[in-house]
Amino acid sequence: MNLTLHVWRQAGPGAPGRMERYRVEGVNEHSSFLEMLDVLNQQLGERGEEPIAFDHDCREGICGMCGFMIDGVAHGPLPGTTVCQLHMRHFQDGATLRLEPWRAKAFPVVRDLMVDRSAFDRVIQAGGFISVATGSAPEANLIPVPKPLADRAFDAAECIGCGACVAQCPNGAAQLFTSAKVSHLNLLPQGQPERYDRALAMVEAMEKQGFGACSNFAECEAVCPKEISIDFIARMNRDFLKGKTKGVTKTPLST
Ligand code: SF4
Ligand code: FES
Repeated sequence: MNLTLHVWRQAGPGAPGRMERYRVEGVNEHSSFLEMLDVLNQQLGERGEEPIAFDHDCREGICGMCGFMIDGVAHGPLPGTTVCQLHMRHFQDGATLRLEPWRAKAFPVVRDLMVDRSAFDRVIQAGGFISVATGSAPEANLIPVPKPLADRAFDAAECIGCGACVAQCPNGAAQLFTSAKVSHLNLLPQGQPERYDRALAMVEAMEKQGFGACSNFAECEAVCPKEISIDFIARMNRDFLKGKTKGVTKTPLST
């Protein structure tokens, strides 16, 4: 396969950026998108040019490090797929593609296709944990967890923190990410003692980090590689409102 790539090149944070055109020839259709970029980077290196910087780690769709826009779509055209798991056979031979970093105020560009997603870490730090007593490990079956709740919590826990939801949202909102991180704890018995405080603290941290407000475009759900449902946003909003209410009445656990 032969491709033409238009790639965002930016030397560093605050530096002016521009689109650069590259021709990539002889691409194996079974290679992943990142492997195709590896080949291009090797050719750039051989010509004495700067390689294109992009984030990656596991290349198995589980770590959340990779991600950039391909023709305006976060992680590219294949639903439920990270860019590291996207293979070149899904593109036409001779295609022209535009690669850009996540575009969001809360994710400043570090270099080329890499952005700083540490704002997500600060949202997690605000409440993405449970408090437990130290000492020896408790007996594994001491707290029974109903299967439907465990399954629902697992649906939320699948979020890999890639940031595609923020990048695709016209508002640069992080509600899908934050609601997944709130819900995977708030759905479980172990998450109950801090349930409402957690929702309050993480939503407030999200706003403080410069993410936008959700206005129900649902673009986040459409591009999420883990197909996290926007139902979790409604669940988080309910817990947030409860957290705002003094003398809160506890809500029974349900999916
Ligand atoms: S909700 Fe989906 S798109 Fe957003 S960070 Fe988590 S895995 Fe990525
Ligand atoms: S490199 Fe880990 S999810 Fe893509």
